[in-house]
Amino acid sequence: MNEELIGPNLSFFDLSSRESLFFPEDALEGLLVNEKWLSSKFFYDQNGSDLFQKITELPEYYLTKAEIEILGDNLDEISELAGEDSVLIEFGSGPSLKSRMLLKAIKPSIYMPLDISKAYLLETSKSLASEFSSLEIKAICVDYTRPFRLPFTLDKKRVGCFLGSSLGNFNKHNALSFLRQTKKHLGDDGALLLGVDMKKSKKILDKAYNDSAGITARFNLNILNHVNKLCAAKFDPSNFSHLAGYDEGLGCVQMHLVSEFEQKIKVLNTEIEISKGEKIHTEDSYKYSPSEIESLALKAGFSRSVSWFDEKGYFGLFYFS
Ligand SMILES: C[S@@+](CC[C@H](N)C(=O)[O-])C[C@H]1O[C@@H](n2cnc3c(N)ncnc32)[C@H](O)[C@@H]1O
Repeated sequence: MNEELIGPNLSFFDLSSRESLFFPEDALEGLLVNEKWLSSKFFYDQNGSDLFQKITELPEYYLTKAEIEILGDNLDEISELAGEDSVLIEFGSGPSLKSRMLLKAIKPSIYMPLDISKAYLLETSKSLASEFSSLEIKAICVDYTRPFRLPFTLDKKRVGCFLGSSLGNFNKHNALSFLRQTKKHLGDDGALLLGVDMKKSKKILDKAYNDSAGITARFNLNILNHVNKLCAAKFDPSNFSHLAGYDEGLGCVQMHLVSEFEQKIKVLNTEIEISKGEKIHTEDSYKYSPSEIESLALKAGFSRSVSWFDEKGYFGLFYFS
């Protein structure tokens, strides 16, 4: 582990043992099987993180706006539940838009943003550190899908937050494992603020993942640029098209890249053959009903829950203790 003191109130911990948290072999693994796939974590190089920020501003992408509405309406109650002098641990902090709202309301003594996108995490942490000069920030670059330990002992109450419906990127089995692992990180008196996208009509969901400006398509295609850098590969993103849609049976929006032609691409010295129309699965985004998410959290060992919704009931914020 590398620890770097960046400023008077900011330290940066890199929990990766290698140069990068993205392992090229992980990308290759999914491209060698019949139903090709790439883990959605590969979206997040610097360009991918910038594109995600643009997605949050799109009119069709209601998720961020709905979650901000819920936070804005319920910050007093949330900060009362969180209590004073806590440690706020944010999993997949990203643009830290909503973090600012929470930091102002909860006033934790320590903020720990965790993210896989190293340069982006450093950049957002630096700007938060200058904005909140009396807050101690310990930024941690880590892949939260792998087992890890927080790099210090904390004797204060830990409040985790996992926003933006990122839990939906896990299938149900992995979502449960993630919640179990998170509960261990938060300790017996800890709590978790979880933002979850609710099940709703296919029309609204399809529109949210197929915006008219084509930013989600660029975000999806950018995964190939990241794989090119990691694996010395030569994917041409313009030879693929973006496909996203809600599968009501699965309760999940699935994203794919569809090959426009038959192509052969070298990835880490292995030739990958892709036929015309063949799909590479890049993301799952599972949607939940309130009772589904509550019973998953109960299974993971959380007990009490408080929940809030936006006016349209599109998005839910759950506080599990
Ligand atoms: C969908 S964005 C959500 C960002 C933010 N929480 C929000 O609500 O706007 C997902 C974030 O999680 C990070 N991320 C994705 N996979 C990750 C992983 N396996 N480990 C750590 N961070 C990850 C990405 O870099 C990105 O910042």
